[in-house]
Amino acid sequence: MSEKTIAFIGGGNMARSLIGGLVADGHPPAALRAAEPDAERREALISDYGIQGFEDNATAVRGADAVILAVKPGELAGVARQLGGQIRDQQSLVISIAAGVRSPNIAEWLGGDVPVVRAMPNTPALIQTGATALFANPSVGPEQRDLAETTLRAAGMVVWLPDETQMDAVTALSGSGPAYFFLTMEAMQAAAERLGLDSDTARLLTLETALGAARMALEASEEPALLRRRVTSPGGTTAAALAELEGGDLAGLYERALRAAAGRAHELGDELGAQ
Ligand SMILES: NC(=O)c1ccc[n+]([C@@H]2O[C@H](COP(=O)([O-])OP(=O)(O)OC[C@H]3O[C@@H](n4cnc5c(N)ncnc54)[C@H](OP(=O)(O)O)[C@@H]3O)[C@@H](O)[C@H]2O)c1
Repeated sequence: MSEKTIAFIGGGNMARSLIGGLVADGHPPAALRAAEPDAERREALISDYGIQGFEDNATAVRGADAVILAVKPGELAGVARQLGGQIRDQQSLVISIAAGVRSPNIAEWLGGDVPVVRAMPNTPALIQTGATALFANPSVGPEQRDLAETTLRAAGMVVWLPDETQMDAVTALSGSGPAYFFLTMEAMQAAAERLGLDSDTARLLTLETALGAARMALEASEEPALLRRRVTSPGGTTAAALAELEGGDLAGLYERALRAAAGRAHELGDELGAQ
């Protein structure tokens, strides 16, 4: 684990999760800093993880190898403008985890040619099982790329994107995706209750089935389509259910859903960039 100094601007839910993951991975707490205006949240980070906490952003950033912008998307422009001069002088890597905000906008607010990695994590990152996509602008060097990857891996798996425009598709897939699975779980549980199961049993069987299927698909070398065919005997119960789902054009529904999410992500990127 690198001993690079990492400064978090904003010590909310996501920063807390990344800090927890980094400390658990062996990153020295003394090399981690958080600037957080809320005193209670700041003190909790200091006492829970042994990191350094600051009220003032500029003090937290002083000499840091990487600065993680972990404030809400609407706060990002102000924070970047405030810290840009200092970050440029120090040549720190900037990692933004703000949903929707594009790297050219971040570089512009920072005042120019700054190495920026844009990360799109998802909610399971809060329990270190996130799926994060990363994009590096051309100013990011190989060592900084490694640092960004190691840092975000503290919250789960990471993939690199060659082209930032793909972030809208990532937002539609893994960014918003947990909600699609929650909706599916809700629907399955409700249907099972209507078939006569009590709600606790229906809930537990739904969630464990979802977890088991996800684990099996991750561990298998075969595609999910093959796993599905393997458990679908002709004339059997699974075939009867799948015929209903396919009759309802599940694939088409997902395509329309992801297109709607990607379109909205693009609009939000335009709106946030105009700050
Ligand atoms: N949570 C997720 O699952 C998730 C997933 C993907 C991406 N993200 C992104 O991660 C970022 C952080 O999300 P979050 O859920 O961690 O939000 P959060 O819990 O609200 O954390 C943001 C923190 O930043 C602090 N803050 C506000 N203005 C600041 C400033 N000028 N300087 C320093 N700190 C400041 C806030 O303090 P106050 O509350 O006192 O204002 C708050 O503690 C967002 O941009 C979001 O888009 C989150």
